[in-house]
Amino acid sequence: METSREYAEQLDRDDPLAAYRDQFVIADDALIYLDGNSLGMLPKATRARVQEVLDDDWGRHLIRSWDDRWIDLPRRVGDTIGTSLLGARPGETVVGDSTTVALYKVVSAALDARPDRRAIVIERDNFPTDRYVVECLASQRKLDIRWIDEAGPEGVSRESLAEQLDGDAAVVVLSHVDYRSAALLDMAGHTEAIHACGALAVWDLCHSAGVVPIDLVGDGVDLAVGCTYKYLNGGPGAPAYTFVRTELHPELRQPIWGWWSQRAMFDMAQGYEPQPDIRGWLTGTPSILSLAAVEPGVAMIAEATVFAIRRKAVALLDLAVGLYDEMLAPVGYGLGTSRRPDRRGSHLTVTHPDARIATRNLIGAGIIPDFRRPDGIRLGLAPLTTRFVDVHDAIVRMGTV
Ligand SMILES: Cc1ncc(COP(=O)(O)O)c(C=O)c1O
Repeated sequence: METSREYAEQLDRDDPLAAYRDQFVIADDALIYLDGNSLGMLPKATRARVQEVLDDDWGRHLIRSWDDRWIDLPRRVGDTIGTSLLGARPGETVVGDSTTVALYKVVSAALDARPDRRAIVIERDNFPTDRYVVECLASQRKLDIRWIDEAGPEGVSRESLAEQLDGDAAVVVLSHVDYRSAALLDMAGHTEAIHACGALAVWDLCHSAGVVPIDLVGDGVDLAVGCTYKYLNGGPGAPAYTFVRTELHPELRQPIWGWWSQRAMFDMAQGYEPQPDIRGWLTGTPSILSLAAVEPGVAMIAEATVFAIRRKAVALLDLAVGLYDEMLAPVGYGLGTSRRPDRRGSHLTVTHPDARIATRNLIGAGIIPDFRRPDGIRLGLAPLTTRFVDVHDAIVRMGTV
């Protein structure tokens, strides 16, 4: 495979998305930033939008902004994310809380909907917060956890999932793209298997939304959550989104009742009566500054289209794997991500016994990847900001640290 710097430069020249990088704040053009899957870069439009919310909405319009501008923001931003990135229908997605809290709410509601079943199924490799939420709910409700064993770079197979599924399984929690290996799961196939045993499917979309086309409705997904601060460029601590399939709205009720999910909230009435729609999944006052900061990044992705972003992600990963074979495998690195483009998301994990030290040295050299225990170096390739030459230069450098 061609891996020269000239070839990488040519790919950048031919890249239809190349101009999007100019829409981001690039404080240091020499910095190679490969951590957009932990914290996406800052869109210039976001800076302007937050300034506007500060000066005009808050500074000038004050409390009136709640009625005129903010009250519907969780649904509006939710719909933008849902309809443009997740394959959701209007009214199925809402923004608020952290991913962890959103996950607690959806898994709890799903368990309530399957009161006679005693087991929650989750991958042992899943992100810690997903595991902890499941452990918490299992402990509170005296349920069993069925762990799907470590899956490796290819991710959870249909067979290993099927081994855990029977009439006692209430809910299955899966990550669409694994945070370490980047394994991309078959959402439609796995959801079908989960439904075949009568369980509900909960998907964590943190590492796929914005870089992998998602069709939640088409794939029959029941519930999903994800964060907005990675590929969606929403900013540090930006709120999460929750997807609840329309057909489940009458059946499911989330566990943290608050005035924001109360029907006619300003009546301040006695007794809790939830909104019948997606607002029923809200709880308390949302963080407006963070919520407003989510919109510009999502609008940019919607404009570029997730399909074009995915095409570039596949090409970036191809180049990265070619460079890995040439530069990293011979000096003792291992590949922690699948070689199959259809089985991986938009990051590449390479392994090395000295990964922690190598990561530190790379950061010292102006290249920012992410260290992931026990021995992984994760290179997040965010197609709106990552150039092919970034991939080239970073991996050449990795071969020498
Ligand atoms: C797969 C996955 N789920 C959840 C989270 C984080 O949850 P929260 O936004 O509540 O911190 C992350 C964060 O990196 C993640 O990678």
